[in-house]
Amino acid sequence: MFKITEKQKLNQQVTMMKIQAPLVANKVQPGQFIILKIDEHGERIPLTVADFDRDAGTVTIIFQAVGNTTKMLAQMNQGDYIQDFVGPLGNPTEFGNPKKAIVVGGGVGCAIAYPQAKALYNMGTHVDIIAGFRNRDLIFFEDEMRKVCNNLYITTDDGSYGRKGLVTDVLKELLSVDKYDLVIAIGPIPMMKFVSLVTKEYNVKTIVSLNPIMIDGTGMCGGCRVTVDGKIRFACVEGPDFDGHQVDFDELMLRNRTFVSEEMRDHTCRIGLGG
Ligand SMILES: Cc1cc2nc3c(=O)[nH]c(=O)nc-3n(C[C@H](O)[C@H](O)[C@H](O)COP(=O)(O)OP(=O)(O)OC[C@H]3O[C@@H](n4cnc5c(N)ncnc54)[C@H](O)[C@@H]3O)c2cc1C
Ligand code: FES
Repeated sequence: MFKITEKQKLNQQVTMMKIQAPLVANKVQPGQFIILKIDEHGERIPLTVADFDRDAGTVTIIFQAVGNTTKMLAQMNQGDYIQDFVGPLGNPTEFGNPKKAIVVGGGVGCAIAYPQAKALYNMGTHVDIIAGFRNRDLIFFEDEMRKVCNNLYITTDDGSYGRKGLVTDVLKELLSVDKYDLVIAIGPIPMMKFVSLVTKEYNVKTIVSLNPIMIDGTGMCGGCRVTVDGKIRFACVEGPDFDGHQVDFDELMLRNRTFVSEEMRDHTCRIGLGG
């Protein structure tokens, strides 16, 4: 059993939790994820490790309440226990040795992008972060992100904070005036697709972190298969990071919608609205 040692609501949909999981905390690297199961009847869900403290033996997860499991998890509190917390899974991000990098996060993707920005910044890389949110109320981690970059650009869709517009607007501006060696993009699939299209024009290496449906997380079930450079890859063991210029994002979007009706039915059953 894994104890929730800290819980903080970051906005109305996003929650941060620290989990006592010393074995995971001891090994995990930026880019890796865990799979948790709340209780014996629970579903397994993958979440990226947003931060870790090897001394305290804690692992930080940040998640958006979108369905059954994430909504149940958001209702748990400090002192409660999670039954399974397996990891670290997937491969650490391979940064290379970039002099200048842009890290792009969209919504809850900013939490997943944060450890990447932190690792790059600590390596001495010049890091610019572009963080996109729908509106001011959904912004989180502003101070944390500011501490691990040279420049932080926040965009909101409605202009209620920072710059009005899309992350790709700022991205195009930065790439048109300066030379960057690496772009990392993490967020909704359409955002990663359009970031990759922009960076392709400027010929800048681009890493995206993919979020296909994962079941076992160990390469056995094939649920997480994605097409990269025309070849089938299993994101849980060969990713989750891939070259954004080679990913078939349209296929990934279609595959992620496969179980939408089952997820809705499961949710209405569990909260007592359906039969
Ligand atoms: C490697 C990886 C890292 C992730 N990291 C984060 C993170 O740090 N924070 C965060 O908020 N979310 C993250 N996600 C997405 C998260 O796993 C889903 O939001 C979660 O599984 C939804 O489960 P649910 O029961 O609450 O919702 P459901 O109603 O069951 O599903 C809602 C949507 O979530 C996705 N989803 C459902 N089940 C899975 C599954 N087993 N695997 C992957 N996606 C699923 C589907 O797109 C689905 O339409 C990550 C996904 C992957 C693959
Ligand atoms: S989640 Fe089963 S093979 Fe990747």
